[in-house]
Amino acid sequence: MEKKFISYLNTIDNFQELSGQTFDKFVSNTESFIKYVKRKSRKPIREILSICIRLRALGAPIESHKIMKADAKYYRKKGMEKEYWINLYYSFAFANLAYPTKSIEKNLKKSIEALKRDKFPEFIPLFLNAYGNILHIYRKDLKNAKFLYEEAIDRLNQINPDRFQDITTKGWDWTYKLLVSNLTDLLLYKKRDNKEEKQLDRLYEILRKSPNATPYIKLLSDLNQVEIFIAREKLKKAEKLINHIVEDTPEKLNRYTIPSVSRLRGLLEARRGNVQKAIKASLTAFGHSTYFGNTLDEKFAIKFLLKTFSLIAKEVPWNRKIDFFEENNLFDVLVEILRLKDWYLGEEHSKSVSKISYKIASSLGMDEQKKRIVKYGGLLHDIGKIMVPWYTLNKTLQLDALDWEIIQAHTVEGYKILNTLGLKEEAEIARDHHERIDGRGYPSGKRNIQLSTEIVAVADVYDASITPNRRYKIFKTPEDVIREIRTGVRGKFSNKVINGLISVLF
Ligand SMILES: [Fe+2]
Ligand SMILES: [Fe+2]
Repeated sequence: MEKKFISYLNTIDNFQELSGQTFDKFVSNTESFIKYVKRKSRKPIREILSICIRLRALGAPIESHKIMKADAKYYRKKGMEKEYWINLYYSFAFANLAYPTKSIEKNLKKSIEALKRDKFPEFIPLFLNAYGNILHIYRKDLKNAKFLYEEAIDRLNQINPDRFQDITTKGWDWTYKLLVSNLTDLLLYKKRDNKEEKQLDRLYEILRKSPNATPYIKLLSDLNQVEIFIAREKLKKAEKLINHIVEDTPEKLNRYTIPSVSRLRGLLEARRGNVQKAIKASLTAFGHSTYFGNTLDEKFAIKFLLKTFSLIAKEVPWNRKIDFFEENNLFDVLVEILRLKDWYLGEEHSKSVSKISYKIASSLGMDEQKKRIVKYGGLLHDIGKIMVPWYTLNKTLQLDALDWEIIQAHTVEGYKILNTLGLKEEAEIARDHHERIDGRGYPSGKRNIQLSTEIVAVADVYDASITPNRRYKIFKTPEDVIREIRTGVRGKFSNKVINGLISVLF
C-alpha cells in the first residue's frame, strides 16, 4: 500500500495537473491511504512524513494532518510514546498550514497540558510554537501569541541541545531560529513600543549570527531583515537586499523564495504609494504560493493584500468605500484569488449570485444604497473560502466532520476579511449567508437574519443547485430548484425572498 501510493504520488508533478478525472483519482487514492493508516493491524509506515510533505505540496495539508494524527495513535497503542509525540507534533504543524479549526486548537491545548505533566518536556517548545502560530496567523491575537513564542524560547533555553537532538527530529538550533523568526515576524506586524523596537534588533542579531545556518534559515533571516528595513522606511536598502536574495538563494528553495519575495516587493510598493504595483505583486505572491502548495504563504499574501487596501482606503469615507474599491479593482482581485482556490464555484458562481441578488433586491423595492450592499455582499459571500485548502473545496468524495468544520469556517473568515476592509454590512452577509430562519443554519444557528443576507442566501442556494460542480453533478431545472427551496430541502427561507427569487426568474 505504502509503496504503491508513493509511486502514484511520484507520477504527479504539481497540483495543477490535477483536474477532472486525474483529480478524482488523486482524491480516491489519498482517501484509501488515509483509511489504511487508520488500520490497527498494519506495518509501520517508514516514509510517512515524506508522503505527508508531498501531499501538502499538492494542496492537501488537511489530509497530511489526518495521516499524522492516525499514525500518532498507532504508536500510542503500541506504547511508543516518543513516536506518538513526534507524529502528533507534525499533525498540528500540518493543520496549521491548512486551517486550524476550534476543535484542533482545543486538542493542541490539551496536548500541551499533558506534555507539561509528562516525561517529555523537550517537546513543549515546538508545541507552544504551533499554538503561537494559530493565535498569530489565524486568530490575530498577537498579545497571547507573543507570550507563547517567548515561553517556547525560554523552555528551549533550559534544554540541553544534545538531549533535544536526541528526542525530536528537529535540531535545537533549527528550532531556536524558527522560534526567533516567528517572534520577529509577529513584532513586525504590531505597533511596537521602544522596548519592542530593541527586542526586534536583538532578535535580528540572533538570526544574522548563524555561522552554520542552513540556506533555509539564512533565507528566513534575510526576509526578516527586508521587513525590518521596510518598517523603518529604509526602502532603498530593502530593495537591494530583495535583489540579493533572488540572486543568492538556491533554486531548491524557490517555493519559499518566490512567494515571499513577491510579497515583500508588494509591501515595498505600497510604502512608496504605488497602489497598482502593490496589488499586482501581492496577487503574484498568492498565485505562486498556491502553485507551490504553500498554504501558509497564501495566508501571508492575503493578510498583506488586505493590509495594503485598508491602508490606502483609510481616508475614504464609509459611503465612498465601495466606489473606491471598485475603481481600484479590489473586487476583481478578490474574485480572482477565489477562482484560484475554488475551481468550480469561485468565479462564475460569485458573479451570478451577485446578479440574482441585485435583481431580487430591486424587485423588493430596496433603495440604491441597500441594493449595492446586496450586489457586493453577493459577489463576496464566499470570499472566506480563500482560507480553505483547495483539496477540501474541490473534494469529490464524502466530507468528514473535520472537512465540514473547515468549510463552514468560510463564513467567519469572510466576515473577518470584509470587516478588515471596512465593508461592515457586506461582512455580515458573508458571515450569515448559511444561517436559516428556522435556526438550522451555521455558524451560529441564529434565526434573526437581515433581509439583505437572506436575499443573497436564497440566490446562493439557487445558483449552487443549478450549476453542475464536483459534488452535485446532475443538472437541475430552475423549476426543480424552486420546488426544493419551497419544501425546505436546502434550509428554510421566508416567503418574501422566495417570491422575490421567483419574480426575477420567470
Ligand atoms: Fe457559502
Ligand atoms: Fe456560495
